[in-house]
Amino acid sequence: MSLPKRIVLVGPMGAGKSTIGRMLARELGYRFLDSDRIIEERCGANIPWIFDVEGEEGFRQRETAMLAELSEQCETVLATGGGAVMKPENHELLKQDATVIYLKTSIDQQVERTRRDRNRPLLQNDDPEAVLRKLFALRDPVYTKLADIVMHTDRKSPRLVVRQLVNRV
Ligand code: S3P
Repeated sequence: MSLPKRIVLVGPMGAGKSTIGRMLARELGYRFLDSDRIIEERCGANIPWIFDVEGEEGFRQRETAMLAELSEQCETVLATGGGAVMKPENHELLKQDATVIYLKTSIDQQVERTRRDRNRPLLQNDDPEAVLRKLFALRDPVYTKLADIVMHTDRKSPRLVVRQLVNRV
């Protein structure tokens, strides 16, 4: 079985990119990388702080720089932030040597899995469901276009998703 050099997970907030990415990496003997967590470590601050102080655009610049750095890392599974696909200049960085997997997830599941989350600045408002809906309308076509594999995650345990992915990569 020949594996892709890198696996990149894309999809909305609450798709399970980090959970599934970590498990998939373990299964394949690859290293797991989480772009958001590495940005936080480098910056010494969490994402809400970065959004507060530098604005979303400041965060996006950090994200693009991080994706460029991580695109060189082989035998890795990379979990990206939900908005990473929205800068066209990131597309090449995401696709480089990679099999891109879109973890497709319904709005209901996104809402359920992000409920009471304080680390996602875009959802700290009166109507996070409306935000998720709007982002999904904008981003779903982009995730789909970039993806080599579209994997539905609704009503599936992370273990089942990983088992199905191992058979497809
Ligand atoms: C964002 C998703 C977050 C994080 C940031 C912005 C987005 O990552 O990058 O809060 O624009 O959808 P997750 O998808 O891991 O929650």
